[in-house]
Amino acid sequence: MAAGRFITFEGTDGSGKSTQARLLSEHLRGEGRDVVLTREPGGSPGAAEIRALLLEGPPDRWSPEAEILLFTAARRDHLEKTIEPAIRAGKIVICDRFADSTRTYQGVRREGLRAVVDSLHERMIGREPDLTFIIDTEPDTGLARALSRRTAERRFEAFGQEMQARIRAEFLALAQEHPHRCVVIDGDRDIDAVARDIARVAGERLT
Ligand code: TMP
Repeated sequence: MAAGRFITFEGTDGSGKSTQARLLSEHLRGEGRDVVLTREPGGSPGAAEIRALLLEGPPDRWSPEAEILLFTAARRDHLEKTIEPAIRAGKIVICDRFADSTRTYQGVRREGLRAVVDSLHERMIGREPDLTFIIDTEPDTGLARALSRRTAERRFEAFGQEMQARIRAEFLALAQEHPHRCVVIDGDRDIDAVARDIARVAGERLT
């Protein structure tokens, strides 16, 4: 049986990462690979319930500390029910957001929180992706794109542009911290050009 692989997509709101995650899964399926496309928060029935708690309502609904616990609880359920069984079965799991989103979105909110995210991750999740695509876009275009969507899931977008810029910087710093698994992709280009780059890198890494 082929070895299972775990690929994640990360980026600020409206960066186009969900479209790219979908396009890569279609590309790999076209090559005959067995792909599971999933997302966070969500990806299992329990985690989907936690998603609604986290993403709907006013920005001050949860403290960053409570968010870290909720995102990690959702991630643990997603890992147990969806991600690990698929990897064990030799599939390629493509996940739209994973722990790097907690490291950035929650990690930047207060001094010392990044260390909390990392230690909780080590104890409760203990898995890193084989490959992470960080889709890097100008935060203002991304945020405008995200805000134009008709959705009740607005809590994080409501934090505004300054926060998106900090999160973008944090993703770029993470890529430097983990150069073996993180690949930064310029997302400010047309969708097909971005998809071609991603498919090429994935092809190189999956052999
Ligand atoms: P999405 O728009 O990619 O579906 O992500 C939902 C929002 O949740 C997005 O604004 C980022 C936020 N988020 C965190 O703050 N921390 C996390 O760990 C994850 C997975 C998402």
